Amino acid sequence: MEQLLQQIEAIKAEIAATVATTADQVEQFRIKYLGTKGLVKEIMGEMKNVPNEQKKEFGQILNAFKMVAEEKMQQLQAALGDSDEQTAKFDFTLPGDPVAVGTRHPLNLVRNQMVSIFKRLGFAVAEGPEVEDDWHNFGAMNLPEDHPARDMQDTFYVQAATEENSAWLLRTHTSSVQARVMETQKPPIRVICPGRVYRNETISARAHCFFHQVEGLYIDENVSFADLKQTLYFFVQEMFGKEVKVRFRPSYFPFTEPSAEMDISCQICSGKGCNICKHTGWVEILGSGMVHPKVLENFDIDPEKYTGFAFGMGVERIAQLKYQVNDLRLYSQNDLRFLEQFKSV
Ligand code: DAH
Repeated sequence: MEQLLQQIEAIKAEIAATVATTADQVEQFRIKYLGTKGLVKEIMGEMKNVPNEQKKEFGQILNAFKMVAEEKMQQLQAALGDSDEQTAKFDFTLPGDPVAVGTRHPLNLVRNQMVSIFKRLGFAVAEGPEVEDDWHNFGAMNLPEDHPARDMQDTFYVQAATEENSAWLLRTHTSSVQARVMETQKPPIRVICPGRVYRNETISARAHCFFHQVEGLYIDENVSFADLKQTLYFFVQEMFGKEVKVRFRPSYFPFTEPSAEMDISCQICSGKGCNICKHTGWVEILGSGMVHPKVLENFDIDPEKYTGFAFGMGVERIAQLKYQVNDLRLYSQNDLRFLEQFKSV
C-alpha cells in the first residue's frame, strides 16, 4: 500500500512539473495520464488489490489523484488557447467589417425616374436591339439611303450593305424602337423606349461614342400637337419642379412633321445665364414632333385615321441638369468617388 501511495505522490509531482506549450504536447499529456491506457487508469486498477477496510480511504485518495490530472489538463488547454495568437488578439466585441453596399448608377437613377413619370401617364416600356439593320434605324424612319440627314448621326457600321442584305449598324437613336413597335402593334400605341445609342464621335467632355435616350411614341385617333406639348410639360414639371419654364422651337426631323425642339429654363442658373445654357437661360432637352405620315404608312397605319406624336431625349442631358455633371466621360469611367455620390432613390 505504502508503495502505491509513494507512486501516486511521484506521479502527482510529475504532473505538477509538466510543461506543455503546444497542442501536441498537451495531447501527449492527455494520452500519458488520462488516456485509456494512461497512468490514472492504471493506478485506479490497483483498487482491486486494496483490502476492503481501506477501500473507502483509498478511493478518496485515488479520486483526488484523478482530479489533479484532470485539472492540470484543463489548465494546459486553457493556456494553449490564450497563447494561440489569433484567439488571444481577437476582440469579439469589435463591430464587424462594414459590407460595401453598391449604389445605383446616376444614369439609371434618372432613367428610372423618367420611366416612372411616363408610366403614370399610361406609357408602356418597349425595348429593341442595339445592333440594328438599316431599315429600322433609318429607312422606316423616313431616311432613305441618300438622305442627307443621315449625316447628322455618325454611324458605326457593323457590316456594310451587300447586294442582298442591308447594312448592320449600332443604332444611332432609340427611334429604331418606334419602328419595331409599329411593326408588331396596332394603334392605340403608347410606349417609351429607354436605351443606349451609339455615334461615331470623338470622345470629349461634351460628346461620347455612346449615350442613352428615352424615346416616346403615342399613336391613336385625334392625337394632336397640344397633347404632345402637355405630355412633355407634365414630364419636366415632375422631373424638375413646377417652376420650370418650357419653350418649343421649330426644327426638322425626317420622321416628324411638324417637328420641334423643346428647351427648358436652365436648372443650373435658374435662367440667369451660365456655361451650361451658354448664357441664354435655356437648355435644349429633346426633339419631338407629329409622326410623319410616311412613317405611319411604312407600317400600314392609316394616316387619315391615326395621328401620333413622338419625342426623343438624352438621359445624360437630364442627369446633367439634375446633378450638374459637366463631363460625359465621368459616367463611364467607373470611378467610385464619382459613383458613390448618387445614393438617392
Ligand atoms: N432621334 C432623334 C435624335 O436622336 C431625337 C428625336 C427627335 C426623336 C424627334 C423623336 C422625335 O422621336 O420625334 O436626335
